[in-house]
Amino acid sequence: MISYNGHISYASAPAKIILFGEHFVVYEKPAILASIDKRVHIIVIKNDNENSIIINDRIFGKKYYPISVFADLERFSNDIYFPLLYTIKKNSAFKSNVGLEFTINSDIPYGMGLGSSAALSVATVACLSNIFKEIKKEKILELAIEAEKLVHKNSSGADCIVTTYGGLLLYQKNTSFRKLESKRELSLFLIPTGIKHSTGELVDFVKKFKSSNLDKFHKLANASENITKRAIRAIKDGNEIMLGDLMNENQILLEKIGVSNLIIDKIIGLCYKYQALGSKITGAGGGGCVLALIETEIKNRFMHNMEKEGFQCIPAELETDGLIY
Ligand code: PMV
Repeated sequence: MISYNGHISYASAPAKIILFGEHFVVYEKPAILASIDKRVHIIVIKNDNENSIIINDRIFGKKYYPISVFADLERFSNDIYFPLLYTIKKNSAFKSNVGLEFTINSDIPYGMGLGSSAALSVATVACLSNIFKEIKKEKILELAIEAEKLVHKNSSGADCIVTTYGGLLLYQKNTSFRKLESKRELSLFLIPTGIKHSTGELVDFVKKFKSSNLDKFHKLANASENITKRAIRAIKDGNEIMLGDLMNENQILLEKIGVSNLIIDKIIGLCYKYQALGSKITGAGGGGCVLALIETEIKNRFMHNMEKEGFQCIPAELETDGLIY
């Protein structure tokens, strides 16, 4: 726990990628996720003599709220910091009658399918728990998922799980998660589309697709489950060729449920052209990032070619640490 006299507290949580199973995970199919080497860092200072909540984020700017904000929080439901304010209010152990100053520093791009809001929720709850009342990781996770559901109400909880526990995980909603071991280091790259997405809107879109294509959706969801199960074996065996093929198969399912688009298709086409082993959307789609698996020997050439085509190519190193607090 990193806290000084209960007055200053620090927490940090990682970004994530989804290797297999996004969207279908909302309907209780298994997914494989991993934390990566980009993090949000939060410092909270408790100030007993202040009567405001100050939130200062490098990207979204600095805002002041009177402590009375908690008495009528619904009024702020469209505020950018509403989920964070809600998280403070939600747990009675976090006294909401003292001044708090949050400084948020994140290197997780926002709206890119990398779990920035889950990492922020988890790190916020952890910081508050350092200051007010130590709570267990499971409870931090539960509160963070609740806050996440304000952002998108059908959240599978996958993002919060992986940012809390870290590592490479197999996750199934309402069931369990377990850590997976990869036999070899995976050379994974993120290629941003440059289009920000709203996870909530895309999850709603898939829900509508499901209700008007019940049979089709059921088959696609079973196919996703099958891909994920084969991917567990490929990861254990360090079979990159198989893993790449499975990523390509997974992408076809995501295209069929309508969460791909022209720019994603273009990037996927370039990944084929420049000999990626596999490539797919990671996260909700509709923009965000494409995830590509590359043979280590050709990774520099791949990056160079993608950059020549006008696309940034960011290495995504898997990280074992989840929440640090
Ligand atoms: O917010 P994103 O883009 O990381 O996507 C979340 C993953 C989904 O499966 C689309 C939604 C969910 O709650 O699992």
